[in-house]
Amino acid sequence: MPAAATFGRLSDPRASLIVSDVRIIDPVRGTDRRGDLVVVDGRLSREERPPDAALRIDGRSLVAAPGLCDLHTHLREPGGRGEALGSGTRAAAHGGFTTVCAMPNTDPALDEALRLRGLLAHSGDLAARVRAIAAASVGRRGERLTDYRALAAAGAVGFSDDGSALASASLVRAALAYLAPLGLPLIEHAEDPSLAGASQMRAGPVATRLGLAGWPPSAELTIVERDIALASETGGWVHFTHLSTASAVAAVRRAKQLGTRVTCDVTPHHLALTDRWVAGDRRFAWEAEGVTADGPPESLDPQLAYDGSCRVNPPLPSRDDALALIEALADGTIDAIATDHAPHPPERTLVEFEAAAPGIIGLETALSVGLALVESGRLSLGRLLEALSVTPAATIGEHRSMQPGDLADLVVFDPTAHWRPTDATLASGSRNTPLLGRELRGLVRLTLAEGRITYADLP
Ligand code: DOR
Repeated sequence: MPAAATFGRLSDPRASLIVSDVRIIDPVRGTDRRGDLVVVDGRLSREERPPDAALRIDGRSLVAAPGLCDLHTHLREPGGRGEALGSGTRAAAHGGFTTVCAMPNTDPALDEALRLRGLLAHSGDLAARVRAIAAASVGRRGERLTDYRALAAAGAVGFSDDGSALASASLVRAALAYLAPLGLPLIEHAEDPSLAGASQMRAGPVATRLGLAGWPPSAELTIVERDIALASETGGWVHFTHLSTASAVAAVRRAKQLGTRVTCDVTPHHLALTDRWVAGDRRFAWEAEGVTADGPPESLDPQLAYDGSCRVNPPLPSRDDALALIEALADGTIDAIATDHAPHPPERTLVEFEAAAPGIIGLETALSVGLALVESGRLSLGRLLEALSVTPAATIGEHRSMQPGDLADLVVFDPTAHWRPTDATLASGSRNTPLLGRELRGLVRLTLAEGRITYADLP
């Protein structure tokens, strides 16, 4: 962490502060204006002046936006390897997130109301709100549904067997039918194990060159098509998480046009990194202009090839698919950006590629990767911030507002300042990201959740 950075908790006293002459982007109202952001005793205020003791921040180089919401965070609670509630929520606050949704592929799985209540009981002491996604099947074994009503009453905001798809079509059909009256989504990790098998990276010329077993895009598409058919038949809501292929996104686009209840998200790493990263290329998808999209890599970088931190599930996409994901995010087919923050301890990632645990940490770099994409001209800043805050929040029934009178729940960042994710700057309990050490744009200066300062890095 920068020497001056501090973390707070949701149980801290409410803050009073003014960020003067700041660019305020409110995706709910569609406004983008410059002005003073005043917070008095935790609430946004238009008329009041801040008390004399209030924190004063020069906002001329800063942007203020609603607090970010992550639909897909592996907090590893219970079972905790690579992360803990404290470190995971500090990583969230450092990245500008005020809400994280904890995924249920824990040890044991979050498949019982008591376990969910245990997780949520800690929330007040942490640096971000924790919401829970419950397991969709008992033990995530894909045999029997969990008790959706009891889990929803305990606070579940969605149901998922993430790490794998719900195994059978009949179970998905039952899940969607049960969830329809509850108004909650089935969050699907779309991957057919009979096609993905023991694959290690995305199928294609790069996998062939590297001699690694390939994951075909049909592994994602077949589950997406199956679940769309079942959602349209039952009226249930399916949300596909971490989509990674152009064909799956095209299927979602068609389903939305037909009025099926389907939403989806994409991770920052599937937007920006490509399968060439496994061969050592370190260009973002939009930077590799002129590269024959699906041709073999020109060279292998012996220092970087087979880096275990590029192993992720679903695997990093081809460049064509990454560009299609960006287009779908821009046109609203993809509703939200979710990090799939998947921490693993070094003994599980600093190993040969084939043995590496899949996963990339993303809470602290999501905004920076998004800002690099905005800089490329392929996405507007307003759409980026909407997809990181308002839309994911709405998916779990949270409201984001920048209106006077509301509790301040927002992020203030410097879009042009640079930083590097390193041991010294990351708050997460893990380091598994191929962005480690890379210079990134976009520095979070202040995160406020429910009127409390949860992260501050002020000059
Ligand atoms: O890469 C991944 N890691 N994908 C998943 O679906 C699960 C996650 C994990 O839990 O580590």
